[in-house]
Amino acid sequence: MSTTFHRGRRLRRTAGLRALAQETRLDPAQLVAPLFVRSGRQQHEPIASMPGQARLSPDLAAREAAALADLGVGSVLLFGIPDGKDAQGTSAWDPDGPVPAAIRRIKQEAPALTVWADVCLCEYTDHGHCGVLAGGEVVNDATLPLLARAAVAYAEAGADVIAPSDMMDGRVGVIRAALDAAGAADTVIVSYAAKYASAFYGPFRDAAGSTPRQGDRRAYQMDPPNVREAVREALADVAEGADMIMVKPGLPYLDVIRAVRERVDVPVAAYQVSGEFAMLHAAADRGWLDLPRAMRETCVALRRAGADLVITYFARDLATALATEAHGATTGVAR
Ligand code: PBG
Repeated sequence: MSTTFHRGRRLRRTAGLRALAQETRLDPAQLVAPLFVRSGRQQHEPIASMPGQARLSPDLAAREAAALADLGVGSVLLFGIPDGKDAQGTSAWDPDGPVPAAIRRIKQEAPALTVWADVCLCEYTDHGHCGVLAGGEVVNDATLPLLARAAVAYAEAGADVIAPSDMMDGRVGVIRAALDAAGAADTVIVSYAAKYASAFYGPFRDAAGSTPRQGDRRAYQMDPPNVREAVREALADVAEGADMIMVKPGLPYLDVIRAVRERVDVPVAAYQVSGEFAMLHAAADRGWLDLPRAMRETCVALRRAGADLVITYFARDLATALATEAHGATTGVAR
């Protein structure tokens, strides 16, 4: 019988045909695994709202980094939990702080891994805001040199990538100039260009102890209803010298990833944030969804929307799943 309708099912019939027709792939080299680092040795403090994640001392962070590198994960993104906080966040640029210490250790134990350092003051200030305060407001221009000092400290410790997440205006240009002046012209800047004032950072703030004591971040992070503004932020950061840009959170902002992707020609990263990770775990714990499948589906959705790189707390699990699958393919296991 000849038919006139479209037989879309033909290309879905076997695993082989589906693989042939697949438009978007996940590659561990394009995954970035966030790690929380603290001081000490042999310290592993689990984070209750982020199953499987922990605050690690530099030695254990390096061990985790080496395991990620063995799985083919391309990068780690470091966040610091300092021993002390003050109004200026001075521990952010302490060369012996947890982030520089972890960078040095990771570079010894996993030299091929690309090491990213998040730059922000919120983990280091006693008030929990991402910049310095004056009259209850976060002041933009006075914050810039402090961010630059932190960026230089991490570059000097050996970070390959500096990722400013503070959302101060002009910070990319100021950080670029400071890195260049410090002899770190080759250090990459990935700016959190479109970072929204989101409810999905809750578990991260528990993990990093960075919840603002007063107020919120809406005067500097972006307003969730806006997408054109994200394009303006991305273009401004590229003009200031960002080598790559980021959209964050991920899944609730797929349209933003797409809009930004179409307007810039630098690589775009999407950050599947702590709340997205916690949400999937919580539902899976109740038996309401299948975690391995949901992890795959959400990460591939970020790639499909236009992200080149995906920053995800699932990096290790995802890379493990991808490796198992590749092994299955070479040994002829049907799936
Ligand atoms: C620091 C920073 C935050 C995140 C990344 N960098 C928290 C915030 O802005 O409050 C969130 C990451 C996550 O939720 O996984 N400014």
